[in-house]
Amino acid sequence: MAEESILNVKCRLLELFSELDDSELHSIEAWISTQSYKQDLEIKKLLLEKERKLSKIANSLKNMVPFEAEMPSEVIMPPIIGDQADCTKENTCHVDEFLYDDKEVDELVKSQKLTRFYCAECNSRNIKELIFISHSMSKQALQYIFYVLLPQDLEEKHLLDVGSRLGAVLYGAYYLCNASSIVGVEMNKECCEIQENIIKKFSMDSNRIKVVNADITERSDIVKNSNIIIINVLDFFVDVQKHKEMWHFFKKHIKKGSYLISNRSMTDTLDTLELSEEMAGWLKICKPHQVANEIFFDVEDYSELYLYTVK
Ligand SMILES: C[S@@+](CC[C@H](N)C(=O)[O-])C[C@H]1O[C@@H](n2cnc3c(N)ncnc32)[C@H](O)[C@@H]1O
Repeated sequence: MAEESILNVKCRLLELFSELDDSELHSIEAWISTQSYKQDLEIKKLLLEKERKLSKIANSLKNMVPFEAEMPSEVIMPPIIGDQADCTKENTCHVDEFLYDDKEVDELVKSQKLTRFYCAECNSRNIKELIFISHSMSKQALQYIFYVLLPQDLEEKHLLDVGSRLGAVLYGAYYLCNASSIVGVEMNKECCEIQENIIKKFSMDSNRIKVVNADITERSDIVKNSNIIIINVLDFFVDVQKHKEMWHFFKKHIKKGSYLISNRSMTDTLDTLELSEEMAGWLKICKPHQVANEIFFDVEDYSELYLYTVK
């Protein structure tokens, strides 16, 4: 690094240090002088390397799906109940977080390929902000799941992603953890074909990672065999009745001791579906297993990811 760049780094560090009080500064000094930052730095580098791998997959996917990442064969409807009931076809735009991170979204807006606003009344200045919704998990959320929430060692564990869509969770699991098997069950055939293409293109071990084209409620065998079940919010894809049916099915078939991860609290999901009483005592919220790794994340960004154990 040139002398000028070193100066630049020092300048940035001083900027950060100037915001700290004495005891905070003391703890940073200790972190650096005891060299324990070096271990953290190794993990940080590893995370960046894995993120680059996932970005390569995301870039391949961009060439395989429409810009909105919704397939012609899909029926995607804004939900009529719950915290996303304010979404309509007019005010909502799907921007897939696995394909486009915040920086890329800013670039798309800058180049006018994407807009953040819609006109509520043509030719007027009465514009409103669009709701951006993602049907996939972001790369950072996946890193948080496997580096903070779940235990580090998942050997001999079987992971299931309910509704695996473009496969974001599957690829995240493949590169970020050591689970023995990773299965995605997805009801949309086109999405399954895309996932299979990616698995092949990136030479992933097809004995470890698999996609099954089915309605999950027809595959109790897979659910019963799984120790880790990831469920991204399904509201846009199933009506209320089907959604309730799915939770009854999960309660019946997910085995005790399994982990369940969702990007909305189960209290909210079950309350909205009026299932709280019936499901009371089924799940227990869990603390993250790898708390030390929170250092790599802005924890507030991930407060919407929840880990439960099945009682
Ligand atoms: C919000 S997306 C989740 C994508 C992926 N799990 C992720 O987090 O990146 C939900 C997916 O679930 C699928 N899905 C909804 N109900 C399903 C069902 N009963 N069986 C299988 N797939 C289902 C939808 O087709 C959709 O692709």
